Amino acid sequence: MGLSSATGRSVLDVEVLFIEDIDMSLLTQSGSWQALADHYYEVRNIHMRDLFAQDSSRFDQFSLTVNDILLDYSKNLITAETLALLMDLAHEQGILESVKELFEGGEVNKTEHRPALHTALRNRSNYPVKVNGKDVMPDVNRVLEQMRGFTEQLRNGQWCGYTGKPIRDVVNIGIGGSDLGPLMATEALRAYGHKNLNVHFVSSVDSEDIAQVFQYLNPETTLFIVSSKTFTTMETMTNARTARAWMLEQSGGKEFYRRHFVAVTTEAEAAMAFGIHEENIFEFWDWVGGRYSLCSAIGLSLAIFIGMDQFEEMLMGAHEMDEHFRNAPLAENIPVILAMIGVWYTNFLGMQTHVVLPYDQCLHRFPAFLQQGDMESNGKRVSADGKVLDYDTGPIIWGELGTSGQHAFYQLIHQGTRLISADLMAACHSHNDLGEHHKVLLSNFFAQGEALMRGKTEAEARSEMEQAGLDEVRIEELLPHKVFPGNRPCNMFMYDRLTPRILGNLVALYEHKVFVQGRIWGVDSFDQWGVELGKQLATTILGELDQNVADNVHDSSTNGLMQFYRSQLS
Ligand code: F6P
Repeated sequence: MGLSSATGRSVLDVEVLFIEDIDMSLLTQSGSWQALADHYYEVRNIHMRDLFAQDSSRFDQFSLTVNDILLDYSKNLITAETLALLMDLAHEQGILESVKELFEGGEVNKTEHRPALHTALRNRSNYPVKVNGKDVMPDVNRVLEQMRGFTEQLRNGQWCGYTGKPIRDVVNIGIGGSDLGPLMATEALRAYGHKNLNVHFVSSVDSEDIAQVFQYLNPETTLFIVSSKTFTTMETMTNARTARAWMLEQSGGKEFYRRHFVAVTTEAEAAMAFGIHEENIFEFWDWVGGRYSLCSAIGLSLAIFIGMDQFEEMLMGAHEMDEHFRNAPLAENIPVILAMIGVWYTNFLGMQTHVVLPYDQCLHRFPAFLQQGDMESNGKRVSADGKVLDYDTGPIIWGELGTSGQHAFYQLIHQGTRLISADLMAACHSHNDLGEHHKVLLSNFFAQGEALMRGKTEAEARSEMEQAGLDEVRIEELLPHKVFPGNRPCNMFMYDRLTPRILGNLVALYEHKVFVQGRIWGVDSFDQWGVELGKQLATTILGELDQNVADNVHDSSTNGLMQFYRSQLS
């Protein structure tokens, strides 16, 4: 099968082209972009099966081991020339300078005029990182120490509730980056979890979410963590108020704030106004983006669960990947390689979507975590300086455990009409060795990578059916259905087992991949203006739900739906 597109423009983009005056961008006019566009026409009919047949060293050429993670990127629709041209583009677009700017606290979040210094949160080398001339590391280390003191008390049963019993259940109330990171990591690191502590995550404003968690809770032994950078997010504040009312009712009016509520926020005053004691507030800073905040105090619920030593192991893993990203030459730099292959697919092959398929139960929430990290960062249609773009940016990210996906949606990946790139990841060892399980899991991991790449030709399908004794009529009938085009690209990661350190590595790897792509596309990967409109309208509509508002306030669809809701109230 040949590659599917040279431009990556979708129908929607064409409509945008009509209604907006888009100048051809400097990016698409650049020499290296043009060279890639020409190269696309040269390689558009390649099949990876042939590339592997022609070059037995393809795996050696296109794989790397960094910090105990093996990345095999040989099953991509690339040649050595493709990669060289992609690296030219990265150089031409100033990725080396961008990386420096990121780590040195440059104003990489242009529209909000601030740096994005998640790397400082896990700067285990403790080199000075300056924001407005002030080293932020003493503050980072102070909060880590505060977390250590608190988590130790909680884990060894010294932190007791209003009746003197130790805390047994911790409920993180947060959403988006204040939920997905700690939730994903808590699930991933269950093997390291405290045996007598349960950690719950409440994020949805649907009362089902918190109501279900309440069922498991004893108010005397429950701690709520209100995690919100802004301390204004509607969903989080609604849940926090409900938790507070529940505690008030359950405790019969006892003083519960001091022992049962803590906050993680940049807005200490708002947390105190809510009732949370000053010493129970864990600070972070506006230079930590929500979706980049796992390594800040937003990870408190995780730190309680796995302990501060393991939490710092995760920070160390992220730091190791930061150092690799900062120092490795572009062509040997895992986040850069993955980012640039993604640019190739998005902008030259017209791929719209990228799927993340962990063959590791521990990572079952990893696709959801990456969804926010990638799509909220690079789902932008204007550049950081406000110009409408004439090329595609962030892909649609989705995913699921590979073994579940195989029996659900892999059909479309293998034989559907769309080309989808994939990341597959697996541990060599499980935390729970049971009989044949891990070998069966890994055999599927290896097999799917091979199947996606090779596919099955008509001749192979025919010969299989002949050997199975099918008659000619049946063979002719089934043949088209038995052919797999292959040529479906995937990156494959392997590591020994999912430790906190490996998880830290993976988190930082994807953060930096997203950063590099954002820089190539010229978008601000650290703002999220696209979430505002829905929030604004919800606030207005909330005020209207109990009243009869005139029919013409909204469009007829919104009005009709709201009226249906009101009609069900009586
Ligand atoms: O609405 C999007 C968003 O701002 C995310 O970027 C963020 O992670 C999430 O909401 C939660 O925000 P906060 O931590 O301020 O409650």
